[in-house]
Amino acid sequence: HLLGLFGAGAAGAAVGVAAGAAGVGVAMSTGAANASGSGAASAYPFYGEHQAGIVTPAQDRLHFAAFDVSTTIDRDGLIGLLRDWTDAAARLTQGLEVSEGGAVGGSDYAPPADTGEALGLPASGLTITFGFGPGLFADADGVDRFGLAARRPASLEPLPRFQGDALQPERSGGDLCIQACADDPQVAVHAIRNLSRIAFGRASLRWSQLGFGRTSSTSTTQQTPRNLFGFKDGTANIKAEETADVSEQVWVAASDEPAWLAGGSYLVARRIRMIIENWDRVQLGEQEMLVGRSKGSGAPMSGGTEFTEPDFEAEGPTGATLIDTNSHVKLAHPTVNGGMRMLRRGYNFVDGNDELGRLDAGLFFLSFQRSPEQFITVQRSLAADGLNEYLKHVGSAIFAVPGGIRSGEYVGQALFA
Ligand code: HEM
Repeated sequence: HLLGLFGAGAAGAAVGVAAGAAGVGVAMSTGAANASGSGAASAYPFYGEHQAGIVTPAQDRLHFAAFDVSTTIDRDGLIGLLRDWTDAAARLTQGLEVSEGGAVGGSDYAPPADTGEALGLPASGLTITFGFGPGLFADADGVDRFGLAARRPASLEPLPRFQGDALQPERSGGDLCIQACADDPQVAVHAIRNLSRIAFGRASLRWSQLGFGRTSSTSTTQQTPRNLFGFKDGTANIKAEETADVSEQVWVAASDEPAWLAGGSYLVARRIRMIIENWDRVQLGEQEMLVGRSKGSGAPMSGGTEFTEPDFEAEGPTGATLIDTNSHVKLAHPTVNGGMRMLRRGYNFVDGNDELGRLDAGLFFLSFQRSPEQFITVQRSLAADGLNEYLKHVGSAIFAVPGGIRSGEYVGQALFA
């Protein structure tokens, strides 16, 4: 029924045809192989009940950007920016240039409308997902610049301080965010570059993050990838096909508050530095104890194969539980977190090295949940996680991700209605 309600793409621009079950957009364009050669979907619909880039099978590459809205624009200026971003995103995700003018349509007097580096590349599974930070609803001084204070979701607040946080303000927060995921890094970067350019004078980049090698699978059709600790990551993640869990744990329901966020979600971003030089000196047995899973197969230490449910009661010959009480898997598991889960969609990062010659590497953790409470509960439980000795959370942000739109609407329109 969704197909009748929502268009499959910008007028005349859709390469893909929406064919997914209940909002799980699975669009395939035939022919065009993506540049990474992974053979994944080439174009996903931009329009739909939910924004793309959440239950969409996680692509290989990420460019994530957080923006501060300029003090010089008002409510109409903000709406204008969201309209322009929507128009561009609808085209870019279909493998088109940012606007009709294109990359070679400039004149002697004006730069080209599109920066050009994705010219000739296919859509490469590009999804562009927009989010609204707490600052949009009132700035640091409590000033309600856009007349949105009354519409702020009650739980959309900067995350509380967690044990061990070493947050850097320049890597945290933001009024707006854009998550661009694609199977070709050039395509993801092209999207953020052009959307930043469109925002010039209206919103400026506050921080941004490149990611590679998705650290989650969000569909049962995908192999579980590995994070930079070398462990399979995403085994017990919520998968698009688990539609009951997706509705229960990921999407804001129409009966939730506020109504404008129905069909949306809350996005948490954490830049987690991994002290991999120390980790690499840890014995395999200890690494597996800290995670609670086998490094090779991804099976829980209580036995079985990758997708066997962990048995937290099972004991070894010494009488100790096979899965350590302070292991990551135990502390993150829904059984100790009131049944709370989340859809994880993070990426590995390596951003050069620090002054001590250690790689500035880690996990750019992204999770989507129906309420920030889900992340907060699990992250508090992880205070006892033995992995923390090898981790440092240096960036943090939270955004309300509005639901999807139809062709002709702009992203987040329900917030301004
Ligand atoms: C599971 C690694 C941070 C929440 C896992 C697994 C690994 C892993 C290897 C097991 C495989 C799987 O089910 O995906 C890491 C690493 C982290 C990290 C290396 C930091 C760099 C976090 C954070 C959260 C989190 C910050 C949320 C606050 C979860 C959850 C599970 C999980 C909910 C599934 C537990 C289950 O139901 O079995 N993680 N994780 N992780 N992690 Fe993390």
